[in-house]
Amino acid sequence: MRIGVLTAGGDCPGLNAAIRAVARSAMQRGDEAVGIRRGYRGLAEDDYMPLDMRTVSGILHQGGTILSTSSFEPIRENAVDKVAAAFGAQGFDAVVAIGGEHTMEITRQLHEDRGLPLIGVPKTIDNDVGGTDFTFGFDTAVQVVTDAIDRLHTTAQSHDRIMVVEVMGRSTGWIAAYAGLAGGADCIVIPEQPMTVEEICRDVTRRHDRGKDFSIVVVAEGAKLSFESGEERLVQPVKESDEYGYPRLGGIAAALASELEERTGYETRVTVLGHVQRGGTPTSTDRVLASLYGAQAYELAKAGEFGKMAAIHGRQMTAVPLADAVKVKQVDLRVLEIAKRFFT
Ligand code: F6P
Repeated sequence: MRIGVLTAGGDCPGLNAAIRAVARSAMQRGDEAVGIRRGYRGLAEDDYMPLDMRTVSGILHQGGTILSTSSFEPIRENAVDKVAAAFGAQGFDAVVAIGGEHTMEITRQLHEDRGLPLIGVPKTIDNDVGGTDFTFGFDTAVQVVTDAIDRLHTTAQSHDRIMVVEVMGRSTGWIAAYAGLAGGADCIVIPEQPMTVEEICRDVTRRHDRGKDFSIVVVAEGAKLSFESGEERLVQPVKESDEYGYPRLGGIAAALASELEERTGYETRVTVLGHVQRGGTPTSTDRVLASLYGAQAYELAKAGEFGKMAAIHGRQMTAVPLADAVKVKQVDLRVLEIAKRFFT
């Protein structure tokens, strides 16, 4: 078989481990893997690179993607015919598309509308892709945020300050909930369970009344600034949406911090972790998960299970229809309930 591999959408740690796993699985069984550069753009513009022993060697621990990525959408760009023609011209028996839920949706459409032999692999630090328990990239982001919270603890404690930490996650609070629990946050604010400014102030004040002079508040970028009056707003750096049509997010920590400082009188500082959460070396958990995903995608290609996405349920690798990916997966609120036991 000749199997193409592409990475699309935002990058995340573990992409190279997944690419390597598809390529090495193929080589082991006498098949060939080919890298498609810059996501679906590579198919439309004939941009390929070999995935052989040399190119996939030494990349397991590297962040980013050796294939580069893009937000190129064949349907929006009127390039579906070019993409379909590339399958014939390149002799691809299968293409593995590694991406988030948006890429899974594009992949579904190309498979259903044109019958292209496509398989999806879910990746994102946000862990919001439906149909699977965990995406790779998430564990690394949680580790980065946990390390940051640990560091913020010592300085917060020294200065009797509130530290408001803003983390990524788009419309979900997976990173905030997991890193908040792991780092012992004193308050976690996520989109799935809105908290008003007044409630957050009450939590922080109760803590201070109990003799704790500092607090760490973790807030997900997609959480709204809301008030008991019913007023609420999504905080955005700019009003425009990003290239996928999602609202651009960022700034909730600064907005929340100024409300907290004004209402409680406690000195407050803001940390926005931003793309640091997405860069650098994947954790061992993400390297393993990405390798399992890559190997599973290869098995699906071999079995001709097109239109499916590799998935993990519990500890079991499996496959689900690409359509399942599109339902945004929200935080398991039991995790948040447990994290709350440590708030005061
Ligand atoms: O989906 C991954 C993610 O990092 C989100 O958590 C974040 O909202 C968004 O991408 C940032 O996108 P960009 O890299 O375009 O700024």
